[in-house]
Order: sequence, then structure tokens, then C-alpha cells
Amino acid sequence: MNEWESFDKIVKGKGVWLVDSKGNKIMDAVASMWCNVWGHSDPQLIKAITDQTKRIQHSSLFNLTNEPAEKLADTLVKISPKMHKVFYSDNGSSAMEIAIKMALQYWKNTGNKKKTEIATLENGYHGDTFGAMSVGYVPEFFGKFKKQLFTTIQFPVPNKYRIPKGFTYSDYQNYCLEKIEKRFSKNDNIAAFVMESGAQVAGGVMIHTRGFQSKIGRLCKKYDVLLVLDEIATGFGRLGSMVQYEEQKSTPDIVAYGKMLTGGYLTMAATLANKKIYDSFLGEFNDWVHLFHGHTYTGNPIAAAVANENLKMYKKRNLIKKIQKTSKIFDEFYDELFEIDIVGDIRNKGMLMGIELVKDKKRKTPINPQKSINTIFFEEGKRHGIYLRTLGNMVMLVPPLAISENDLRLLMQKMVKTIQSAKSKVVDR
Ligand SMILES: Cc1ncc(COP(=O)(O)O)c(C=O)c1O
Repeated sequence: MNEWESFDKIVKGKGVWLVDSKGNKIMDAVASMWCNVWGHSDPQLIKAITDQTKRIQHSSLFNLTNEPAEKLADTLVKISPKMHKVFYSDNGSSAMEIAIKMALQYWKNTGNKKKTEIATLENGYHGDTFGAMSVGYVPEFFGKFKKQLFTTIQFPVPNKYRIPKGFTYSDYQNYCLEKIEKRFSKNDNIAAFVMESGAQVAGGVMIHTRGFQSKIGRLCKKYDVLLVLDEIATGFGRLGSMVQYEEQKSTPDIVAYGKMLTGGYLTMAATLANKKIYDSFLGEFNDWVHLFHGHTYTGNPIAAAVANENLKMYKKRNLIKKIQKTSKIFDEFYDELFEIDIVGDIRNKGMLMGIELVKDKKRKTPINPQKSINTIFFEEGKRHGIYLRTLGNMVMLVPPLAISENDLRLLMQKMVKTIQSAKSKVVDR
């Protein structure tokens, strides 16, 4: 915290640019924490917000409903194969808490008392609340709370860049899957498998390789374990498809969306469940099978209105196709980036790129500088006109999804310069 005595104040934004109180412009290379879709100050999204603000600003979803929230639920169900109903919340962590509660309660509602355990992947991230921390244990983030977190069954996840000795990549993936199957076949107490869909983002931009997620999905079906997917960071085009689980050929029982849902303008998340899950919560009041969960701002009409407009724009402007095309720009910079001697690995899918920094390329040893890498890169990035936020040794590029080819090229040029100039500052302890 001592490194952060004062912050630049952002006073406005336009497109991919953020402007501070002194008039300095920086490119938003992290889409304001991975959520911005169309850039800042998009007139159509602003209009959706202001129009709705004049009608009803907030009214509860307890015993009532509202038009924008209903419309959004219809759209979300339409775009999400096999999903049946939507439960709203106001951030991704809450959406995952809800997903966990739904999964655990499903088994209670259907009379299975044994299934109480949650299986997860090592190094996953699902948010910062206690349930989300428990299922998404990243040691550096959550170590201090370990005692208070509920235990989960964690399975290793293949990392192409750091395959354990004696394994080929595909051997190691099979080994991970065999571990899951072994445990599933021995234990009938596992309620759900919770994982990020398509890639582990906060855990180091670990992109799932072909077949990994779909095979986990098949094991879940085979051993009657619910599959809970987190698409908060990876859905809605971030990895190049609208619904990542469709591309991964794995159908969840429960899926969570957030971040890009409102175009990155207001706070809203959603947990979707299939019919089997939803139906298990239907009953008379005294059956006590309903879900005791709700937040003040659940289904907020202004957030829902801007989400509706956002989704309309995805379709009208053919955003997914555009992302698939624009994201090819990343390829142009691979060689230049790899030439920098602290760049160990580059992982990229769709509009997401993670650059892993190392001290020694051959040995892949992580750098361990005096100052936090985040501070060094934030300062260097600012000098070159980009807003960056690193995660550990990973430099993250998560631009607004609709960024133009020219802007992405400019951002990458700035990125290369930033890493080159940060290199001398990332001195080892
Ligand atoms: C995969 C994933 N799940 C959940 C969350 C938590 O979302 P929020 O920060 O909105 O609580 C995040 C946030 O980065 C995330 O990346």
C-alpha cells in the first residue's frame, strides 16, 4: 500500500481512452477490469441508461418484476444453450456464490444427502467473497484466509509452459483427467465441479487446451456431478465466442456471466440454471426447497436496460465476427515480444493476451523485483500512454472488445515499448 499514495483521477473517457484531471490520455488496456465492450461514453449505451432512469430507477425483484430484467432474462436464455432460468446479482463474486448455493441445494432438494463436496481446478479464480475464494483458491490472493475457507477437492490443471518433468503435454492432460475420474469413481459425495470456462484468467491466463473442458464435462455426466461454469471473464466474446461453453463443447448445469454483460457500464451479473436445477427448487412454501438468496439491487432495471442495449449491439454490429478478425493483430507482435529477454511465454485467445515475465528464459525462473511488478508496469505503461494492470508475473492485455484494428496495433506498439523500458527496472531482489 505504501507504493500507492496518490492516484490519478479519471474524469472522463472516450472510446478506448481514459482522461485524467490533468488532461492526460491513456489507453485502457484492461477494459476497466476486463468489462468494457464498446469503449467509454458510447452514446447508444448512455441513452439506454438515461431513458430507463426516467422510468424507474430501481424496484425490487422480491415479489415484483420489471420489464428490462425480464427482457434480458429472455435474451440470456436464448443465447445460452440448455439454460432455462436466470438469477440476477450485481457482481461476479455474488453470481458464483449463487451458483455454489444452487448446486449444493439441488442435491438436498432432490433427496441426496451425500453430495456436499465441491471439486475445482487448482489456481482457479471466481471472486473475492468467501464462497468464491473457497472454490477459486489462488494461494497468493487468499492464503491469509485459508482457515476460514471451506475445503474443496482440487485437481491439477495443465499449464503448457510448465509441464512437470517426464510428461509430454498430452500425457499430462490425460494424467489430470485420470485423477478426476479416479476420484469421481471412488467418491459419491461430490456435488459439483466448478471451473472457469475456456481459460483461467486471474490464475495466469491459462487457456484450456482442446478437449480438456469437454472431457471434464463428460466425466461430470458419467458420475452424476453437476458442472458449474464461470464465464464471467471469458464469455461474451472475450475468448472469441459469445458463449464459451458452446465452443468448448461442454454443457453446464449452471453458468455465471458478469463483466461484459452491461457493456462495462453498470454493475450486474447473472447465474443461469438448466431446467433440472430450476425444477428442483419448485415446491409449496412448506417444502422449503426455494433458494434463500437475494440482493438489494437484484435485477436493477437501469443495469438491465443497458445490458439489453449492449446485447442488441452485439448482434447488430456482428461483434463476435469483428473480435475474431481484430484479435489477429496480436499475432503481428509475437516475434517482437519474444525478442525481449524477460518475456518467457505469450498466451493469447480472442481479445485476451497474457505475457509471462521471467528472469531466465531457459530455466523459466520467475522475476522477483524490489517493487511490485504491477507498480513498475503501471508507471511505465502510463509513460507510454497505456493503462496496465499486471497479475503477478503476468502482463495482461484485455482491451475493450470492440477496439479497432488500428487502436489495437497502437496499443500493442505501446505495450512492446513498455516492456522494453520496464525491463531494466524489473531488477531482482
Ligand atoms: C472468472 C471470474 N469469476 C468471477 C470474478 C469476480 O467478479 P467480480 O469482480 O465482479 O466480483 C472474476 C473477476 O475478475 C473472474 O475473473
